[in-house]
Amino acid sequence: MQAEKIAQPHLLKQPIYVTGKPIAYTAREYGLDPSQIDKLASNENPLGPSPKGVAAAIKALSEANLYPDGGCYDLTHKIANFRHVKPEQIVIGNGSNELLDMIAQTFLGEGDEAVMGEHGFAVYKLATRLQNAKAVSVPMPAPDYNYNLKAMRDAVTSRTKLVFLANPNNPTGTELSAQAIIDFAKSLPESTILVMDEAYTEFIEKDAPNLLPLIEAGFPIICCRTFSKIYGLAALRVGYCITRPDIASMIQRVREPFNVNSIAQAAAIAALDDQEYVEKVRENNTRGLAQLKAGFDRLGLSYVPTRSNFISVRGIKEPMKAFDFLQRLGTIVRPQPAMGDVLRITVGTQEQNERFLKNLAKYLEGTSKNSFL
Ligand SMILES: Cc1ncc(COP(=O)(O)O)c(C=O)c1O
Repeated sequence: MQAEKIAQPHLLKQPIYVTGKPIAYTAREYGLDPSQIDKLASNENPLGPSPKGVAAAIKALSEANLYPDGGCYDLTHKIANFRHVKPEQIVIGNGSNELLDMIAQTFLGEGDEAVMGEHGFAVYKLATRLQNAKAVSVPMPAPDYNYNLKAMRDAVTSRTKLVFLANPNNPTGTELSAQAIIDFAKSLPESTILVMDEAYTEFIEKDAPNLLPLIEAGFPIICCRTFSKIYGLAALRVGYCITRPDIASMIQRVREPFNVNSIAQAAAIAALDDQEYVEKVRENNTRGLAQLKAGFDRLGLSYVPTRSNFISVRGIKEPMKAFDFLQRLGTIVRPQPAMGDVLRITVGTQEQNERFLKNLAKYLEGTSKNSFL
């Protein structure tokens, strides 16, 4: 029996998601000591996890013999208090990635469409196609690589069940104004849900659009957040979304009974109380972005303006070669083939950023002499 013959036909065209390269792989491949490698590839938190989150996780481990609370009662109530919404508006996921999948599973099927940006987060397309629905990709052209909300609105048809939008967006790092997003949300038909991906929102907190009043007023909007980025809990896999209670209730139906483990739930509850750490992460990010931007200016490279925890630098000749070259020197970054001559770099610690800039300078020196192209 060949698996291909009996698998669902639409899966034959489904790619497997390629994640940022783990440190251990690069260490093995190039014979490097893992402690010499800086992973600036997956927009992870360079300051480590929230210390309060870690303490709570360690404590929760002693009860790992028990199944977790499938309904995530404590975490749901903690988030409800923190964000001033009702518990029945919240769904918790195994990372916000799982929520994106659960949302697609709940609302999309064959013949349905989801509208997204050409350079939106890759999972939007994967989640849509997994349901055998059509991913309608709207161009986000260079040099600014931003969403074109008018073109996205024009792409919405009577078959469009979901529109995916991220602010700031990954991988571009671009932002839209709060008012533009609010106007866009209001312009969508009642039968189309706006999935607002706020994975990096805490990095621009004060300027981010607050869509909760629109949800309260009845607009079909789902706002997704994660504990992976500013709270530094990526490995534990926990995220949440806030929406209308009727929408949340439908998403709950596709949820696997124990989708979020108890270690992650405990860590997330404690991390929400760790706003001092969140502030430290924001400060490191602001300093790191300034450092990287100054470094790119010195090297004569342009970049996509951003306030997120990663930055896309332009004008890199042969970006896949640059990726390989930088890895050998111990910096893992993320090439963006769909964006052309671009590398995406996660903001690291001051030392990590410095090492990356030095290594990038070496690459540029080599390309100008054509010594390794
Ligand atoms: C825009 C965006 N949304 C969602 C996610 C998923 O995050 P997680 O599943 O770790 O919550 C990511 C991860 O990089 C992302 O960049």
